[in-house]
Amino acid sequence: MHVTIIGCGGFVGSHLLDRLLSRDDIYIEGWDPEADKIIHHLGNPRFTLHKTACIDAAELARVEERLVDSDVLINLAAICNPSEYNTRPLQVIRSNLFDVIPIVDMCARVNKWLMHFSTSEVYGRTLSSYLPDGDATDNPDLYELHEDSTPLIMGPVANQRWTYACAKQMIERYIYAHNSSNGLPFTIIRPLNFFGPKMDYIPRRAEDGVPRVLACFMAALLKREPMQLVDGGSARRTIVAVEEAMAAIERMLDRPANARNRTFNIGNRANEVTMRELAHAMRDVFAEISGDESYREHPIVDVSAETFYGPGYEDCDRRMPDLTQVQECLDWTPSRDLREILLPTMRDYRDRYNAEKDEQPVRAVYG
Ligand code: UGA
Repeated sequence: MHVTIIGCGGFVGSHLLDRLLSRDDIYIEGWDPEADKIIHHLGNPRFTLHKTACIDAAELARVEERLVDSDVLINLAAICNPSEYNTRPLQVIRSNLFDVIPIVDMCARVNKWLMHFSTSEVYGRTLSSYLPDGDATDNPDLYELHEDSTPLIMGPVANQRWTYACAKQMIERYIYAHNSSNGLPFTIIRPLNFFGPKMDYIPRRAEDGVPRVLACFMAALLKREPMQLVDGGSARRTIVAVEEAMAAIERMLDRPANARNRTFNIGNRANEVTMRELAHAMRDVFAEISGDESYREHPIVDVSAETFYGPGYEDCDRRMPDLTQVQECLDWTPSRDLREILLPTMRDYRDRYNAEKDEQPVRAVYG
């Protein structure tokens, strides 16, 4: 099988390479300006890296030339960090919509299977979040996320936090339209909080920005600073091991008839936590791996979303995926619980932090 990957050097891309290159029947040609997370694959004869972004016409033409021999194009390129949605809105819209349009058009032109990484953010907020406190939170019809029937609910245009979700939704609709108009074969993946080694970076200076919650909490533990809980830490997320998520992607590649022309939630329903619960779980795991029991009481402080992310931030309250589609089509069910995910992930952060103490953080352009 020949696979083309745009954005192969980020967190998800690096784990996808680990999974697919462990087989001897898969050949990968990838594009990414960053290679730090995939250095161990650079000498592999079944992997070719073009160390550049796929934005200008000349590079896109090179991809198209190579795509003729490929079975599928996987697109992972994105700016996908919540702290940038309201602070770099133009770049977020360009990267998640306008930079992807030529890639979708190209796949339609050469009639190649496009596997596009979207986001659970396209669902926006749940219906239940608009009801008075306490009402209907036990009714799954009002919070469960079904790929083909749940309405996508976003805030007003003036609230720029929704730039990312909206751009991702638009490109999903564009792919869908190409399928219905031109028969473009596609798969859309909606990841729900993949956690694992090599995710994000530990910020060292103010200009390094704000990574996602896992790295924020890790940074606080490593630097012995308080963990910050945005708006009381009541937002809920379901956490899935990135390695298990990659097994789902491998199944899609192996069963194209079951995977094509569908959208899949990829997550783990059993690992739902509030951000406060996640902070507590991470304190306990860090006490275990560091051997320092005092981390179980590591300070946690509350901070408003406005202070943490800047004006215009609004949170997705809850993301509980319906996984019927991925179970039925691909026979995939994740099994790792939160502790099993956090232990190796937090060890990786600690080891990288200690090893890279005096270096610049790695800023991934691609998720
Ligand atoms: C992000 C992306 O926007 C999604 O596209 C992506 O699918 C998702 O990550 C993912 O990893 O799958 P989100 O879960 O909102 O979505 O991102 P995080 O930065 O990880 O934030 C999760 C929650 O933690 C939010 O409620 C945030 O306010 C909170 N948070 C974050 C804290 O309480 N403290 C922090 O220090 C950082």
